[in-house]
Amino acid sequence: MRMIELVDVSRSYGGLTKVAALSNINLTIGAGERVAVMGPSGSGKSTFLNLVCGLDQPTAGTILIDGVDIGILDDDSRTRLRRERIGMIFQTFNLLPTLTAIENVALPLRLNGMSRRVAEPRAVAMLKRVGLGGRLDHRPDQLSGGERQRMAIARALIFEPPLLLADEPTGNLDSQTGDEILDLLDQLHGELNMTILLVTHNEEAIRFCDRLVRLRDGRVVNDEKMERGR
Ligand SMILES: Nc1ncnc2c1ncn2[C@@H]1O[C@H](COP(=O)(O)OP(=O)(O)OP(=O)(O)O)[C@@H](O)[C@H]1O
Ligand SMILES: [Mg+2]
Repeated sequence: MRMIELVDVSRSYGGLTKVAALSNINLTIGAGERVAVMGPSGSGKSTFLNLVCGLDQPTAGTILIDGVDIGILDDDSRTRLRRERIGMIFQTFNLLPTLTAIENVALPLRLNGMSRRVAEPRAVAMLKRVGLGGRLDHRPDQLSGGERQRMAIARALIFEPPLLLADEPTGNLDSQTGDEILDLLDQLHGELNMTILLVTHNEEAIRFCDRLVRLRDGRVVNDEKMERGR
């Protein structure tokens, strides 16, 4: 089953100097696959994730998510797709600083109109799943980096989406904490079998994936299946 399909996708930026952030990408990613995306700074990795989640639109080409052409969705449908079907985690966690762990994780449910009474127990269950059962009322600034990323993962997966996008999720963590986050993602992948796109510079992270796509200057320069090393 195809989870993501890019057909002749390009994204260029105008201005004084035209930048081809991505050029003619053709890529198919299957359901449940774990794909590491690597490449030098400026090679188009974040652009790629932003296109796949519909935060950004290609200047040419078509992107299908689970068979749906996201280019023809209206803004509301695209927002809903992103909230319910695509989890996202980032190097800088992107948590809301004034909200507790429960409130941060319940937020996507609340934005969908779910009552607090229904949403919060679900958030608690997800926080327990990522090992934060003892930090439910903590705000992000009261947590360690690894704990913040766990909170972000709980929020990203609260709908149990079929797709998880991660942009250097271990980039701000020491190597041991980074490994713990990868182990957690490995465990959750075993339970939920979501497709994962993982942008990373971390060699350990590659071992967690079963495919490696390398970008350079906005093009795919290498695409290989890997034996899992773990
Ligand atoms: N909003 C923008 N306007 C103009 N150019 C942009 C914009 N966003 C990105 N670019 C350019 O597109 C190219 C790809 O950027 P992108 O952020 O995808 O790189 P990256 O591979 O994620 O790099 P890094 O490893 O540093 O995060 C870069 O050359 C960048 O300068
Ligand atoms: Mg980037």
